[in-house]
This record gives sequence, C-alpha cells and structure tokens, in this order.
Amino acid sequence: MTYRVIQWATGLVGQESIKGIVAHPELELVGCWVHSESKVGMDAGEIAGIEPTGVTATNSLDEICSIDADAVVYSPMLADEGEIRALLASGKNLVTPIGYIFPRVDSRRAEMEALCVAHNVTLHGTGIHPGGITERFPLTLSALCRDIRHVRMEEFSDIRNYATASVVRDIMLFGHPPEVAAQSPMLKVMANGFLQSIDMVAHELGWTLDAKKRTSHSMALATRPIESPVGIIETGTVAAQRFCWEGTVNGEPVITVRTNWMMDDGHLSDGWQLGEQRFEVELDADPPLAVTFHGLHPPVLGEDSWIGLIAPAMHCVNAIPYVVQAGAGIKTYLDLPMIAGRAAANETNKH
Ligand SMILES: NC(=O)c1ccc[n+]([C@@H]2O[C@H](COP(=O)([O-])OP(=O)(O)OC[C@H]3O[C@@H](n4cnc5c(N)ncnc54)[C@H](OP(=O)(O)O)[C@@H]3O)[C@@H](O)[C@H]2O)c1
Repeated sequence: MTYRVIQWATGLVGQESIKGIVAHPELELVGCWVHSESKVGMDAGEIAGIEPTGVTATNSLDEICSIDADAVVYSPMLADEGEIRALLASGKNLVTPIGYIFPRVDSRRAEMEALCVAHNVTLHGTGIHPGGITERFPLTLSALCRDIRHVRMEEFSDIRNYATASVVRDIMLFGHPPEVAAQSPMLKVMANGFLQSIDMVAHELGWTLDAKKRTSHSMALATRPIESPVGIIETGTVAAQRFCWEGTVNGEPVITVRTNWMMDDGHLSDGWQLGEQRFEVELDADPPLAVTFHGLHPPVLGEDSWIGLIAPAMHCVNAIPYVVQAGAGIKTYLDLPMIAGRAAANETNKH
C-alpha cells in the first residue's frame, strides 16, 4: 500500500519531511506547496537538497487541493485555520507540528471535528516538544509504573544554535536587560501547545487539575561577554531563560513542563548550568523512572541546525499510515495505535 502525500511549506521541518516522505517505503510525494515566490517551480527534492522527485512546487492552494492525495504534512511558520479547513475539505488527512495535540473541548474543536467527519478525514497534531516529549513518551513510560505522583518533562537547549537575530534578540529577548526580557511573549506563545500536553497527561493518568495552570519565567545573566551567532551577549544581560507550566491538584504540582534556553559557555549568573543539550522525562512513581533523550538537538555552534528538525518532521511523516487508516475526526496519540518509523531501504529490504 502506498499513500500519496503533499508537503505544505518547505522551511526546516518541511525539508526534513520531504526527505522523510521520499525515504518512507509506504509513502509517495505527490505535491508541494511553498510560500516563497522564489521556490515556485522548483523541484521539491531540489528544495530539500536531495535528488529530484518530479514534484514541482506551487504556491496555489487550489492546485494543491485538486491533487489526488491521501495526506498533507502541514508545516508553515504559522497555522492558518482557513488553509487547514480547505485541505481537509478536499479530502486529505492532515498531520501538523503546529497545534491540535489535545485541543480543548469547545465549539471550535466541534466544528473542526464535524468538518473532518463530513469529509471522512483525520487531523492529527504531533511534533517533539510539544508532541512527543511532553505527552506521548511520558504516557508510554507511565505504563511501567504504579502510584504516579508527579511527571516532569524538560527541554535543555543551547540557543547558540539559532543564528536568526530577529528571533533570538527581538522575540526571545536574549541580550536585553532582565526587566525587558521579563516582558517576553514566549510564555504565552508556547503555552498553547504545552497546556494541551498537560491536559492530555492529566486526562489519561486520571488527575482532575485545578482550573488555573501555574506558570513562571526565570532568567540568568551573562557574567562576562558571551559570543553568539547573533552577536555578543553583554555582561548583565539575559543569557538564559527558563519557562515553566504546571498542572496542579489542590495547589500541588503533579505535571511540570519546563523549557530551558541558554547561551551557556559556563558564564551564567545564579549557578545556572545547562549541561548537555537534552530532553528529560521523569516520573515520581513506583518505580521512580527517569529517561534522558540525547541526539535530538543539533551540535552546539555547529553548521547542522537542520538535525534538530528531523524528529518533529519524522513524527509527522511516520504518523501518516496510521492517520490515513484511522477513523474520521481529530485523533490524538490516545486514539491512534503505536506510531513507528521504518527500516532503511537496503539491498535486502528495498521496497
Ligand atoms: N511541535 C514541535 O515540536 C515543533 C518542532 C519544530 C517546529 N515546529 C513548528 O513547525 C512549523 C514549521 O517550523 P520550521 O522550523 O519549518 O519553520 P521555518 O523554517 O521558519 O519554515 C516555515 C516555512 O513557512 C513558510 N512561510 C514563511 N512565511 C510565511 C507566511 N507569512 N505565511 C505562510 N507561510 C510562510 C515558508 O515556506 P517556504 O520556504 O516553503 O516558502 C517557511 O520556510 C513552525 O510553526 C514551528 O513552530 C513544531
């Protein structure tokens, strides 16, 4: 069985997704949407830096909707509900690393659910953080435990891998005085995904959370000038930030999600130290369980920032056969069977 797949947007995730679709034995790339005018007419393989695929990039939604395809990997910079609706209404299942991980039950969700059912398609939100580390993997590990008292999921990333000053300085607010960085929108921007993860874990483990989630944002400062791809981070300005979202029961945290972003060359205030880049999942339970994920980040200050996007792209790509087979509607990890990758093609197992 081969599923016909369209890639929507060819940023870092989209390019890794194209490579993944081409390498997947049950998938065939049949369409590619791009936002950038300069990419229109290019071969999707050329955009992704691989051999030509025979698929020409277009920026026309109508053209994409008219393609006979089973699924779309939807990974633009920002999700557009109108585009998502149009793609679903054209009879294509949709997998995305932007939202829909465990959408709250409200009229908006009901409308999207109804649209999926009307067109017999599935919408699945996935990714890595959120979309893996913060709900899929802790829930999988929880099956080994009893008396689960607390679950923690935490990212440790070195922001020196990110060379875009307009994002790192102007949106993340690194290199600013702490009172400026305290106005960061990131706690709110990231909350949408992480609060869905917290709700999914609470739902499945059986916690009824307090109505309001607890959030915090703390910072450490450079204790000497730190070199970075976005320029020097001066002494006394923000060089590390920790964002935290918690689900509580009677005021006591039971689920903690943290994101640590640092420019950590060993010169951060208040004893902050990143250690190796990693993701951690820890369950305070019987037995107490801790798992650390290495390899999902690109090397610090390396040229290979795309390495960090393989996992979120592949979580989308590998979900496609399961999503196409699933019933109509919004389907989360709680609805789908186990999602797995596929073996590399070689002389003996080429498909
Ligand atoms: N859940 C997770 O764990 C996870 C992990 C990584 C990323 N993500 C999300 O996945 C999405 C894609 O990430 P990315 O790293 O691929 O981002 P990216 O490199 O910035 O690429 C986004 C692409 O969107 C298109 N685009 C740019 N401006 C646009 C606009 N104004 N309107 C519509 N499309 C526009 C461009 O496509 P073309 O280049 O084709 O023109 C661009 O390359 C982001 O929303 C990101 O937050 C989620």
